[in-house]
Amino acid sequence: MAAHGLGDDDRRHVFHPYTSIAEQRSGDPFVVAEAEGVFVRGADGREYLDAMAGLWCVNAGYGRAEIADAMAEQARRLAYYHAFLGTVNEPGVRLATRLAGLTPPGLDHAFFCNSGSEANDTLIKLIWYYWNLREQPRKKKLLSRHGGYHGVTLGATSLSGLPAMHARFDAPLDRFLHLTKPHHYREGRADESEAEFTARLLRELEETIVREGPDTVAAFIGEPLMGAGGVIPPPDGYWAGVQEVCRRHDVLVAADEVICGFGRLGHAFGSDRYDIAPDLMTVAKGITSAYFPVSAAVVSDAVFDVLAGGSAEAGVFSHGHTTSLHPVGAAAALANLDLLEGEGLLTRAAEVGPPFLQKLRDAVGDHPLVGEVRGEGLIAGVELVADRTTRTSLPAEARTGLQLHRLLLEEGLICRALGDTLAFSPPLVIGEDELAEAVSRFARGLARLSEALD
Ligand SMILES: Cc1ncc(COP(=O)(O)O)c(C=O)c1O
Repeated sequence: MAAHGLGDDDRRHVFHPYTSIAEQRSGDPFVVAEAEGVFVRGADGREYLDAMAGLWCVNAGYGRAEIADAMAEQARRLAYYHAFLGTVNEPGVRLATRLAGLTPPGLDHAFFCNSGSEANDTLIKLIWYYWNLREQPRKKKLLSRHGGYHGVTLGATSLSGLPAMHARFDAPLDRFLHLTKPHHYREGRADESEAEFTARLLRELEETIVREGPDTVAAFIGEPLMGAGGVIPPPDGYWAGVQEVCRRHDVLVAADEVICGFGRLGHAFGSDRYDIAPDLMTVAKGITSAYFPVSAAVVSDAVFDVLAGGSAEAGVFSHGHTTSLHPVGAAAALANLDLLEGEGLLTRAAEVGPPFLQKLRDAVGDHPLVGEVRGEGLIAGVELVADRTTRTSLPAEARTGLQLHRLLLEEGLICRALGDTLAFSPPLVIGEDELAEAVSRFARGLARLSEALD
């Protein structure tokens, strides 16, 4: 891909997130120039159907003038002011109020940050603060899952359960425990039904709480549907069981809604889809469709009451970012929510998602390289395998997922390779013809991969 004169400066000065430094130093970057609807255009003029909405985030689609105009207008009126020491701005208050109306009942208090990672670190600190105020200072351990992705700040890295995020980063920190990922296809034992698998995971959860001591376990934190860990919808009954076990042991339940929130699963939140009544949740990405970095940790009335109750004694809540509740971000979020609600995008994935998943299954589900096609709403994953019958994975060093990703780019389709699972998470505005086009381009790329491997 041509770098359009930017290659040298990029190699010299840009330290890329989630990129091999060695590969970046020897190759040209993919320069993105503009985007409209579901299409991204490279600086070389080539157009790609972005079946990933950037990084699972451009829910309203690219080029929405309504959001851009709202941001520009706000930047002209009040480009910035902080929210420390009781200060606030009008779009900020309107956004917090709007969010409280969208989140599940009782989740009414939002602490604003900039990224999903920061929201999750805030969540962790809120949970520890909460148990300190409840005078249970030992109740600090956090349970999450292998395969979970919660971001890259120190706490969020520790919550995450992906080995590459821990290796050489001295993570996870103490107090973070990881449970089995709820993926029957990969984690289920021979002849174990999905119901038996779920029961085993719930036993693991309970045994972990009991072994560690319920007086030391603070919270369980999970994505309603795991995203970056491979697009893993939870098995039936999983979340009901998790909540039941946690409640019994006075362990808080937190939902990381950074991907699932704002319509991805055909509901406002993943918690609505799976009947989760979380004590806390985090949101980011789709809250502004990534037109501006905004995130939040949202807490229930019950949790907030404890924080408020201990406040006089605890003093100032000493946490917050320079750009918490940024007025331009709030304006972007409000305009974005107008689009998501006004155009029915919070529920659209429930209508167009199932036929899309079916098309994907029909097109590639029987391919010898495909082990599982899974998804929910407008998020899907296609897992590549060496052998369908034995479910044997491809050798990691072959980086077959990445190979397919590159072939798909040549076909004009952007998917994301999560190891050997290729993910789809398109803008929620995507047309049915565009979904069909994404499936055909994917099938063409897969056919080319299989020829190349023969
Ligand atoms: C579920 C989940 N939580 C948290 C994060 C971290 O968000 P950010 O990259 O904005 O820090 C991500 C990012 O992909 C995510 O998928």
